Amino acid sequence: MSKLTIIYGTGTGNTGRMAKAIEEGAIGAGVEVTIKKVETATPADIENADAIAIGSATYRGAAMPSVINYVKAMADQPFKGKTGAAFGSYGWSGEAANVISKMLEGYDMDVLKPNLRIKRQPSSDGIEECKNLGNQIADKINK
Ligand SMILES: Cc1cc2nc3c(=O)[nH]c(=O)nc-3n(C[C@H](O)[C@H](O)[C@H](O)COP(=O)(O)O)c2cc1C
Repeated sequence: MSKLTIIYGTGTGNTGRMAKAIEEGAIGAGVEVTIKKVETATPADIENADAIAIGSATYRGAAMPSVINYVKAMADQPFKGKTGAAFGSYGWSGEAANVISKMLEGYDMDVLKPNLRIKRQPSSDGIEECKNLGNQIADKINK
């Protein structure tokens, strides 16, 4: 079974809701999913993953420092060519997902486009978008 790891940072839960819907979409498409809040994630959580989805809410024009630090530490492992995805909830400017996406591209990962950004708390349509992303990731790594 192909493996997806989802790591996310959230302050008030919105990016967490996105992460859980991505998980649901991927599980529905037959992928084994590990999902962790960044505070409890370790490098081992991603070492055997076929795809890695990283989420962060945007605070003060940036991704959460905890998420940035996690992604920086990924430089120690070879992820070249693996599937990546970036997502996050935001209020008005939504920089976080774009920053994460660029960092993953810097590791030569195959990053899905566009990044999934949802304003504030995901609506039912937003939850569907997240499930679709889970599906899309599954399609890529199940091939
Ligand atoms: C102190 C503070 C700063 C914020 N700064 C930004 C910002 O610079 N750009 C933006 O798009 N949203 C900003 N937001 C809005 C959050 O990104 C938004 O509430 C988001 O849904 C939070 O996601 P979370 O529930 O996953 O933490 C800010 C919110 C707070 C409370």
